[in-house]
Amino acid sequence: MDLFDAIAGRTSIRRFQPAPVPDEIIDRILDAGRLAPSANNIQPWSFLVITDKAVLSAMADAVRAAVDRMIPHTEDERQKQRLAAYKGTYYTFFETAPAVIAVFQEAYDASANRLLARMGYSPDEILRLRPNPGLQSVAAAVENMLLACHALGYGSCWMTGPLVAQEDFEKILGYGKEKFIAALLPVGLPAEHPQPRPRKSLSEIAKKIG
Ligand SMILES: Cc1cc2nc3c(=O)[nH]c(=O)nc-3n(C[C@H](O)[C@H](O)[C@H](O)COP(=O)(O)O)c2cc1C
Repeated sequence: MDLFDAIAGRTSIRRFQPAPVPDEIIDRILDAGRLAPSANNIQPWSFLVITDKAVLSAMADAVRAAVDRMIPHTEDERQKQRLAAYKGTYYTFFETAPAVIAVFQEAYDASANRLLARMGYSPDEILRLRPNPGLQSVAAAVENMLLACHALGYGSCWMTGPLVAQEDFEKILGYGKEKFIAALLPVGLPAEHPQPRPRKSLSEIAKKIG
C-alpha cells in the first residue's frame, strides 16, 4: 500500500473479528514500531503482546473499577455521563480484540534536562522548553504501528483512556515504576469500516514564513 493511501485510509477500529492475529503479522507491526525515529536514537520503548483473554478481562475490569472511583469526583452531570459511557466502550473495548500491544515508555534520562535543572529551570519550564522527547519518540513508534496495521489489512486504535488503571496494570502485568504503558493498541481484523473523522483544514493549522 502506498504510504499516503495508508495515512489517509487509516481510521480507528473499535470492533474486531475474533480470528487470532498470526505471529508474522504481529512481528511486522512491532517491527514498524522498532524502526521509528527517537530522541538521540535512544529507542525508549518496549512492547508487550497480550492475547490471554483472562489477562485482558482483568485489565478491563480494572479500568471499570478505576472509572467507578473517578465518577464521584466528576465536575458536572455531563462529565459524569460521558465517563460512564467511556467505561462501557471507549476505555474498555480493547478486551474484545484478539491481540493487544501494550506500548511501554522506558526510563529516558535526558542529559539536557539535567543541565537545565542545574541552571535553575523548574520542571514545568523544562517541559515547555523540551516537551517530553521520550514520549514523542514513543508516539512515533505508535503511529508507525497503526499505519502498519492498516497497510496489512488489520485494524487498531491508539488508546490512552484505559491508562486510568495504570497502577492496576502494574500488578496484573508485573512491571515496576521504572516504566509505564504509554498506549494500548488492540489489533485484529476489522469488524467495522467507519467513515474517516473530520479534520481541520490545512489553512486553519498551517502557516508559512518566507
Ligand atoms: C493519544 C490518543 C489517545 C486515544 N485514546 C483513545 C481511547 O482511549 N479510546 C478510544 O476509543 N480512542 C482513543 N483514541 C482515538 C481517537 O479518538 C481518534 O484517533 C480520533 O477520534 C480520530 O479518529 P481516527 O483515528 O479514526 O482518525 C486516541 C487517540 C490518540 C491519538
